[in-house]
Amino acid sequence: MKNVTLAEIFLHPITQKYLQRSGIAHAVKVTEHAFHLAFKYNVDLDLATKAALLHDIGHYEWYRNGKWDYELYRENDIHAIKGAERAHKLLIRLGEEPQRAKQISVAILLHTDSYLPEAQIKRSPLQKVVKLADEMDEEKGGNHHYNVMDIETAFQRLQRLDKLIETYHPLPAYKENLR
Ligand SMILES: [Fe+2]
Repeated sequence: MKNVTLAEIFLHPITQKYLQRSGIAHAVKVTEHAFHLAFKYNVDLDLATKAALLHDIGHYEWYRNGKWDYELYRENDIHAIKGAERAHKLLIRLGEEPQRAKQISVAILLHTDSYLPEAQIKRSPLQKVVKLADEMDEEKGGNHHYNVMDIETAFQRLQRLDKLIETYHPLPAYKENLR
C-alpha cells in the first residue's frame, strides 16, 4: 500500500474546499492524462498524478457580480504559487515524505507560465508531464473549469488510478528518486 493515495487526498476537506473552485472534473481528467503521460515517458506515476490532482488547488473565487471576468482573473492570478504552498501543506499533513512533497509542490508551481516573467524555464520530465496533462484538458476561455463530475464518480476514477499506480509503481524512475 502506498503512503498517501489519490483517493485519500481527494477526500480531505482542504481538497474538497479548494477543488470545487477550479472543478473536480478538470482535476480528475488532468490526473488521468498525467498517469498516461508519466507511463509513456517513464516518469514517477505517483508524483505526476498527485501533482496533477492538486495543480489547480490554488485558485480563488473568480466571480465578480455573479460573472467570471476571465481577463481580470488572468491579470491578477497567482494560483500556481498558492497551489504549490497549499498542496505542500496538505501532503505533509497527510504524511507524505518531505522530499516527495517538495517535488509535487514544485511541479505545481511550474505547471503554467501565465504568471511568470518571460524567461526560458527548463522543466524536468515530471514538470513537463504535469503541464502537458493540464493543457490536454484545457478549453477555450477557461471552460474546462465548468465541466461537472459528481464526487462519487471522481472518487471511483481516482481509486482506479491508485490501483494502477500500485501495480506499476516501482518503475526505474521511481527507484532513482528514492536514492
Ligand atoms: Fe488546470
